[in-house]
Amino acid sequence: QKRISGAFSFSGRAARFFSISAVSNSTKVAVLGASGGIGQPLSLLLKLNEHIDTLSLYDIINTPGVAADLSHINTKSKVTGYIPDNDGLKHAVTGADVIVIPAGVPRKPGMTRDDLFNVCVYVDETNAGIVKDLAEATAKYAPKALLAIISNPVNSTLPIFSETFKKYNVYDPNRIFGVTTLDVVRASQFISELKNTDPKNEKITVVGGHSGVTIVPLLSQIGHTFTEEEYKILTHRIQNGGDEVVKAKAGAGSATLSMAYAASHFTNALLRALHGEKGVIEPTYVKSDLFTPDGIDYFASNVELGPNGIEKIFPLGKLSDFERELINAALPQLKKNIEKGVKFVVG
Ligand code: NAI
Repeated sequence: QKRISGAFSFSGRAARFFSISAVSNSTKVAVLGASGGIGQPLSLLLKLNEHIDTLSLYDIINTPGVAADLSHINTKSKVTGYIPDNDGLKHAVTGADVIVIPAGVPRKPGMTRDDLFNVCVYVDETNAGIVKDLAEATAKYAPKALLAIISNPVNSTLPIFSETFKKYNVYDPNRIFGVTTLDVVRASQFISELKNTDPKNEKITVVGGHSGVTIVPLLSQIGHTFTEEEYKILTHRIQNGGDEVVKAKAGAGSATLSMAYAASHFTNALLRALHGEKGVIEPTYVKSDLFTPDGIDYFASNVELGPNGIEKIFPLGKLSDFERELINAALPQLKKNIEKGVKFVVG
């Protein structure tokens, strides 16, 4: 069963007499980076989610407007927008059961996700810096929340969160997730296009990490037969699906709408598990022992979710020779990405 959240709920005029909800079945979800290309449609989808009682939106700009707009939708959740003034971040995350984080800068054509690690946009801030600040606030004010990290490069931003939580002595690896769901969503869609099937029936596991060669779809496990050529084309398309969108948007950002859908799906999986549903399994990038002998501490694979986060990490299962080669190509890249994230916090 879900633990007691003790969320503060503010709504409209009642905000003046704010109330403290100690009801154990009140669920609060916070979105950090809620005014952005992903943040806005994600917040819209979460406003429609029946599991959520309080939707807390934080960004450095525009959240009061986004929250006011969403608050007119006639679903049960209360929406509040916070900006950095008046301890906004603290209030946004305090009492949250789930925190979803799409804060940061998206890619421009020609950039890899890894390039985002150090790219300077807001004076001297980088995605790594933004994520570290948000990790510190979360460690201080919501150390028990389940965290879904979208900000790229996910392969490195998850280690940044973990190391920051360790510094604050609140680290629980079972509660921190890197969101790789878009790779799964894309894989399902691309396979259905090739095989002329309904994508909702195409369930595929994508393992490894979330950038380029670290994205490894396990196509041999889904019951279709592919030619060698199809294997290669599909794998390449799944690994580089993000580039199709970045190129088509021609400088206006990366995937936002499909990402919002994917993040909403993953957040809903966390909420279903939080509310006691059994057998909720999603591929996600987490602290994992699967490749510890190779010096790799984080890896995406199928994970069973529960009220306290990770219940079980599943092994990869039977791999084809081609998939084994893909994993071998992914490991060194993943290792570098993880080390970069760890170093950013630990030095
Ligand atoms: P965006 O630029 O449209 O939105 C980012 C938002 O973050 C902006 O509203 C900005 O004000 C906010 N922000 C910046 N610094 C902040 C801080 N310190 N605290 C709170 N909010 C802050 O970017 P978009 O397209 O929404 O992408 C966001 C991130 O998600 C990028 O890093 C992008 O690479 C990543 N992404 C991840 C995917 C995944 O599969 N995990 C897929 C697509 C994008």
